[in-house]
Amino acid sequence: MSLRRRPRAEAATPAGGARSGLCVRGLRVDRGASPIVRNVSLTAPPAAVTVVLGSNGAGKTTLLEALSGIIPAAEGTVELHGTAIAGFSRRQRALAGLGHVEQGRQVFPELTTAENLQAVAEDEATVEQGFALFPELAQRRDVAAGMLSGGEQQMLVLARALARSPEILMVDEMSLGLAPKITQRLIETMRRLADERGVGVLLIEQYASLALAIGDHAYVLGQGEMVYDGPCRPLIDEPEVLRAAYLGHRVTPAGAESAQPVER
Ligand SMILES: Nc1ncnc2c1ncn2[C@@H]1O[C@H](COP(=O)(O)OP(=O)(O)OP(=O)(O)O)[C@@H](O)[C@H]1O
Ligand SMILES: [Mg+2]
Repeated sequence: MSLRRRPRAEAATPAGGARSGLCVRGLRVDRGASPIVRNVSLTAPPAAVTVVLGSNGAGKTTLLEALSGIIPAAEGTVELHGTAIAGFSRRQRALAGLGHVEQGRQVFPELTTAENLQAVAEDEATVEQGFALFPELAQRRDVAAGMLSGGEQQMLVLARALARSPEILMVDEMSLGLAPKITQRLIETMRRLADERGVGVLLIEQYASLALAIGDHAYVLGQGEMVYDGPCRPLIDEPEVLRAAYLGHRVTPAGAESAQPVER
């Protein structure tokens, strides 16, 4: 696969070698008067897949929306390759290299697949890179996006996000409502993006086992707080650890015995 990589924003990286990728510390995000995300810290390095799991309503979408500037954060720091971006607008964050594939796979339904890509790509070569990544889409290039299957629409949304050459790509529940086979295909593509293109993928996924199988590091958000921060393997090998985390118990890679209820 030949995919163009945007030159890294060296000027934005302070001398002395700041941390690369996305680095979040002590984030709090409120919805109305309610704190939904509390004291969340995470790192999403380049060329890696970082998995974020959590039960329904845990605050995963809220977390990503705050990181990409859709909603404000009440507390905490957000750095992208060493630059503090918490004060940046959504557009500035995107220009700085932070991509966000939102839950719900929004396409322009009356535009064709190719037109959907052309609307965001800076040139035809970028459009073709999207088609190279998803050959299924190339066959549907002149079809109105509203007529595509759910899986094809998700590919289109991913291709559109990638057309902006993000350094970090945050992906929110791309498998919602899709068949397991297409979900597997999309999740494998996340691995390829990290390995072949150096993208740092922050993957929120309901199919925990599929995501953990290709992930480099895992976090579990339990009712707004990070209750697991460690390798993927223990969550695969010991499903009870994952279950405890989903229930909001703080767990460590050592196992479920160490589960502690999160204080509120
Ligand atoms: N716009 C909103 N206004 C008020 N509360 C909201 C809003 N959106 C979400 N919430 C609440 O915030 C909490 C976290 O929701 P969020 O959508 O971030 O969770 P999630 O982990 O993404 O869940 P899911 O797995 O269902 O996508 C929930 O209690 C939800 O009801
Ligand atoms: Mg969500």
